[in-house]
Amino acid sequence: MELKIALLKGDGIGPEIVDSAVAVLDKIADKFGHTFDFTPYLIGGCAIDETGIPLPRETVEGCLASDSVILGAVGGPKWDGMAGDMRPEKALLGIRSAMGLFTNLRPAKLYPALRNASPLKDEIVGDGFDLLIVRELTGGIYFGDRGYREGKYGTEAFDTEAYSVTEIERIGKVAFEAAMKRNKRLCSIDKANVLESSRLWRRTMHELAEQYPDVEYRDMFVDNAAMQLVRDPRQFDVIVTSNMFGDILSDEASQITGSIGMLASASLGASKRGLYEPIHGSAPDIAGKNMANPIATILSGAMMLRYSFGLIQEAETIEKAVDSVLNSGLRTADLMGTDKGTPLSCTEMTEAILKVI
Ligand code: IPM
Ligand code: MG
Repeated sequence: MELKIALLKGDGIGPEIVDSAVAVLDKIADKFGHTFDFTPYLIGGCAIDETGIPLPRETVEGCLASDSVILGAVGGPKWDGMAGDMRPEKALLGIRSAMGLFTNLRPAKLYPALRNASPLKDEIVGDGFDLLIVRELTGGIYFGDRGYREGKYGTEAFDTEAYSVTEIERIGKVAFEAAMKRNKRLCSIDKANVLESSRLWRRTMHELAEQYPDVEYRDMFVDNAAMQLVRDPRQFDVIVTSNMFGDILSDEASQITGSIGMLASASLGASKRGLYEPIHGSAPDIAGKNMANPIATILSGAMMLRYSFGLIQEAETIEKAVDSVLNSGLRTADLMGTDKGTPLSCTEMTEAILKVI
C-alpha cells in the first residue's frame, strides 16, 4: 500500500518518540513492501513559537489530506502562562474536533514481563488484566460553553458538560461493537446520581443495550469506577465513558499497567482516517535527554496499521516485537519498577524493537 501519513511531533519528548515510531513504520514498510510517505506539521508550543498560534491552518489541512496522523505530545512550562485559547493543549482539542474524531480507544493491559512495574499486589492482578477504555472525544465539558460571569460570590468561571443523544449513541455503538469483538462485557461509567447529562447518557446506553443482547452490560458511577480499577481491574473488559471521565480513568488504568509510557491510543471518526498518539504527555522534565519510552507511540503506529489501513499482520509484527523485547528484560527508565540494572535510552529501545522486526 502507498499511504500518506501526517506527523505531528509537537513538544517535549514528542519529536523523539515520533521519530522512533517512524523508524519502526519504515522498517515495516520495507519488510512488507509498502510505501509510507511522512509529512511533518507543526502543532502545540512549537507552532506557537513559529507561527503565533497552536494549530495552524496548514496543519489541519495537511491532516485532512493524509490517510492518517501520528501525534507525539504537546505542551510544556514555556507555554503554561498562555491564555486558554492559545495554549498548546487547545490545538489537540482543535485537531480532534476538525478531524471529527469522536472515538478514543485506549487499551490498557498488563504485560506479564512488566509485572514488577505495576503498583498492584499479586492477588489483585492475578494472571493479568486487559481492558479497553472507549472515551468520547469531541463533546462534553471539553467543548461546552465556558466563560466568566457574576455569581453568588462575585466573578466566577464556568465550563459546561453537555451531551446529545446523537453523541451518546454513536460512541455507545462503537463500545458495544468493540465488546462484541472482545469478551462481550461493557461497563458504562457516568455520574448519573448527580448530573443530568449523565442521566441522559445512562438512559441512551440502556436503550442501545437492548440491541446487543449478547453483551453483558452494566453501569457504574465514576467514583466507584476509580476505586474498582485498583481494587479489581480484571472485572473490566470494555469501558465506555465521557470525554473528561475517560481522560481521568485512562491515566489511572495506565498506571496500574506499570507505566503510562506503554499506553497507545487511537482516535477515530466516521472515516478510516484516524489520529494515533500515546496517552502520555510531553514530559518536559526528560525532553531532549533520550530517556523517554517510545513504546506507547510505536504501539500507536501499530494501532494505525490495524484500524486505519487494515494491515493486521504488520500491526501484529510490531506488537510481537514489543512483547519480545520486554520479555527479554530490556527496559526504559520508566519501566524499571523494582528491577535493578541500567535502563535503555529511547533510541536503544527503538533499535532493540527494530532488530526483532
Ligand atoms: C489526553 C490529554 C489531553 C486531554 C490534554 C493534553 C488536552 O490529557 O489526551 O489524555 O485531556 O484529552
Ligand atoms: Mg489525559
